[in-house]
Amino acid sequence: MIEVRSAHKRRGRRVLWHDLTFDVDRGETVALIGPSGAGKSTLLDCIGHLDTFDAGTIRIDGVLAGGTGRRARLVRRHHLGYLFQDFGLVPDMTVEANIDIARVAGRTHLGDPVRTAAAVDRVGLAGRATDRAHELSGGEQQRVALARLLVKRPDVILADEPTSALDAVNATMVLDLLDELAATGAAVVIATHAVDVEARATRTISLFGSDG
Ligand SMILES: Nc1ncnc2c1ncn2[C@@H]1O[C@H](COP(=O)(O)OP(=O)(O)O)[C@@H](O)[C@H]1O
Ligand SMILES: [Mg+2]
Repeated sequence: MIEVRSAHKRRGRRVLWHDLTFDVDRGETVALIGPSGAGKSTLLDCIGHLDTFDAGTIRIDGVLAGGTGRRARLVRRHHLGYLFQDFGLVPDMTVEANIDIARVAGRTHLGDPVRTAAAVDRVGLAGRATDRAHELSGGEQQRVALARLLVKRPDVILADEPTSALDAVNATMVLDLLDELAATGAAVVIATHAVDVEARATRTISLFGSDG
């Protein structure tokens, strides 16, 4: 699903990584580890088409990143899902409205409130659908972000330290839901410092950072 080939990235004079090649298939969860500043978030951004490599290529479902054709647009709109350390919700919008952002972005699900309600239930937030995001705890907000992914069903899920701001119970819930998304066909990449996240992953990719 994700194919990275001979990727090279620098920030100023620092080489973040050089000749990086890897694949992530559907159903896999890959832990991206390395010290702070190694480039984990940058690599997620490159996979997510928010940043670009200085050299090398990335394909999502066979489609080359950076393309301007219809398939490349479809990939950007429908195939990529994000989970952030700080949840990435719109604070003043309701739980259901935050989830429906995915419907607008992934047009196939437009007009399917049943699906939104089912996702709210699935992440344990039944009865909270009309609360505003800022009224929820961190763990609850991250579960809203997961409900959004359950509705959108992206093929690629990029999670940047998604459990580092959460207590153990919520962290486990989040990882269980990510496992479920992988089991139903997503390729999942999680940047993490947490050993429990790494232990649950199918594979680990280490970024060590180096001075160039
Ligand atoms: N927008 C940017 N402009 C310049 N340097 C950046 C930018 N974003 C991150 N960096 C630098 O790139 C390196 C990698 O950062 P990052 O990908 O956030 O690492 P990690 O997520 O592994 O902690 C760091 O040295 C950071 O200071
Ligand atoms: Mg980071």
